[in-house]
Amino acid sequence: MRRIKEENITLGPWDSTRAEKLGYEHFMLKEIHEQPKALRDTMGARLREESVFLEEIGLKDEVLRSLEKIFIIACGTSYHAGLVGREALEELTGLPVEVDIASEFCYRNPFMPANSLVIAISQSGTTTDTLVAMRKCKARGAKIIAITNVVGSTVAQEADYTLYTRAGSEIAIASTKTYVTQLVALIMLALQVGLVRKTVEETRLAQLIKGLHALPNQLEELLGQASPIAELARKYASHEHIFFIGRSLDYAIALEGALKLKEISYIHAEACAAGEFKHGTLALVTEGVPIIALATQPHVFSQTLGNIQGARDKGAKIIAVAKAGKDELGELAHHLFEIPATHRLLSPILAVVPLQLFAYYAAVERGCDVDKPRNLTKSVMTE
Ligand code: G6P
Repeated sequence: MRRIKEENITLGPWDSTRAEKLGYEHFMLKEIHEQPKALRDTMGARLREESVFLEEIGLKDEVLRSLEKIFIIACGTSYHAGLVGREALEELTGLPVEVDIASEFCYRNPFMPANSLVIAISQSGTTTDTLVAMRKCKARGAKIIAITNVVGSTVAQEADYTLYTRAGSEIAIASTKTYVTQLVALIMLALQVGLVRKTVEETRLAQLIKGLHALPNQLEELLGQASPIAELARKYASHEHIFFIGRSLDYAIALEGALKLKEISYIHAEACAAGEFKHGTLALVTEGVPIIALATQPHVFSQTLGNIQGARDKGAKIIAVAKAGKDELGELAHHLFEIPATHRLLSPILAVVPLQLFAYYAAVERGCDVDKPRNLTKSVMTE
């Protein structure tokens, strides 16, 4: 954990910004470290010993039972949360789920059955693209549930139901703590829908509830191991291109890791589905090009390993993120970060942390304005 040493802090009654950062150098770092609390607050009484309770949303069981299809619409980091949400919802509810970038959804014409549920994810609750897409769905008779961090925001007002994340205010333009709370909200929602529709087996429910309860402490554990990531980020900060690869939920995390890195450090960062890498992007790999490889998903582990080997053979420097105990990967990767054991649907919540820290320390090393990257705003209110 990188906190400013006391002797270097010029805290005074006039230095309110520094005080708001609680001694952290930037809001982004403070917010990364607030993630365990953000998760505890978002789960709160909604997550009990043996199940989830989301009655507060007001979604009636009859509505959930009659659902035919789920759509997820969002932008930026919220869209990346939606990619994880799709897999959780498909697996736990048995319903078909589509996830779309809101600005794309607005201009296509998908088949939308009468009993469709649309999940609009927006941390700010004011993103125009998401609002326009929501209104289009509403006009077609779909029920809308908003997942947002801002109470009373436009998205919440216009939706039929709202599930609030409780991340607290997020000042840095790059989303971190709101992202992990969106993931937890989506998984709790998937469980709730699955329980009503009787599509969640007891063992899986028990594993996920146990896993959710363990997450805040596991996040604390990971945040306590930030220094090797900081060191590595400084080592690779001078590179102009960094690739991220992963399969399944690791691909969703790869997209988020690349977005974080490019938006705050201005390094060209590109995420690719690991199996797709050889179909084109591999041409960009030359000696020493860094590849951050996510390998936390057990059902595609051996395939990912093959893709990593393929990139390494072409000279890539491999930085891997995986669950503990993957010795084969330890031998293949130049650097390996281990995340604690958890259910595969929950591992994105842990695996994203080293990527957030990597982006943060690379940006600091490059002298970037971490909290306010050029050309970007926290909420985009134009189409
Ligand atoms: C902006 C921000 C992104 C954010 C996106 C969606 O582009 O810079 O960090 O992910 O909007 O924002 P929302 O508030 O709808 O989640």
